[in-house]
Amino acid sequence: MNSSFLPSIETGRAAVGPSILSADFTRLEAEVRAVEEAGADFHHIDVMDGHFVPNITFGPMIVEAIARLATRPLVTHLMISDPGAWAVKFAEAGSALVSFHFEAVGEGHEKIVDALHGAGRRAGLAINPDTPLERVRHLLGSLDLLLLMTVFPGFGGQSFMGEVVPKIAEAAALKRSAGYRYLIEVDGGINPRTAELVRGAGGECLVAGTAVYRSPDYASAIAAIRG
Ligand code: DX5
Ligand code: ZN
Repeated sequence: MNSSFLPSIETGRAAVGPSILSADFTRLEAEVRAVEEAGADFHHIDVMDGHFVPNITFGPMIVEAIARLATRPLVTHLMISDPGAWAVKFAEAGSALVSFHFEAVGEGHEKIVDALHGAGRRAGLAINPDTPLERVRHLLGSLDLLLLMTVFPGFGGQSFMGEVVPKIAEAAALKRSAGYRYLIEVDGGINPRTAELVRGAGGECLVAGTAVYRSPDYASAIAAIRG
C-alpha cells in the first residue's frame, strides 16, 4: 500500500495531524471539524490502556464516533500492552492506519502487521525515544509507517526530546537507501520551532496536540508546523 491516503506528502509537503488527546472532549464534533477546516491532513488518535502507559484514554467506540465525523484519515497510535488483541478492532472502527508499540510485544510483531494488512488497513510501528532503529530493522520492509516518539508516551504537553532528531535522519536515510515505503511520523512536543528540526531531518507526518488544540488559531498553528 502506498502513501496516497496523505496526498500532501506526494507533493513534497509535510502532513500535519492534530492529536485528539488535546481536544476539548465536550465539543468533540466541533473540534474535529475545526482542525479539518484549519488544514489538518489527518487526525492522530491516541489510545492508552493504563498499563503500557500510566494513562487511559478511550476505546474503539470513540474512534468509531470520530470516524463518522471526520473527512480526513484517522491515524491511530496504540499505546497498549496487547495490540495483538486490539489492532484489527481499532482498524475496523475506522482507522486508515494503526500503529502499535514495538516495546509492547516481545515477539509476533509481524503477525500484527499481517493481520492489519489482511483487514485491508495500513500498519505502523511506534518506537520510544530510547529504542534504537537497529532493533526494528527486520520489520521495516513491511511497514506503511514508522512512528518515532520524541517524548515518552503517556501524556500530551511534554517537551520535545532533541536527542531523537538523528534517529529521524537515520530513518529517512534508510528509507531512501533500502527503498522502504514507510512514512515517517514524529510525535511529541512538536510546535513550530521543533517542527522545523523534524522536517529538516526527514519527518513527513507531524503530530501536534498542545500546539494546535491549545492555540487560539488552529489554521496558523497548523501552517506554522507545516512550514
Ligand atoms: C503522547 C501522545 C502524543 C501527544 C502529543 O503519549 O502519543 O500524541 O498527545 O501531544 P503534544 O503535541 O502536546 O506533545
Ligand atoms: Zn501519539
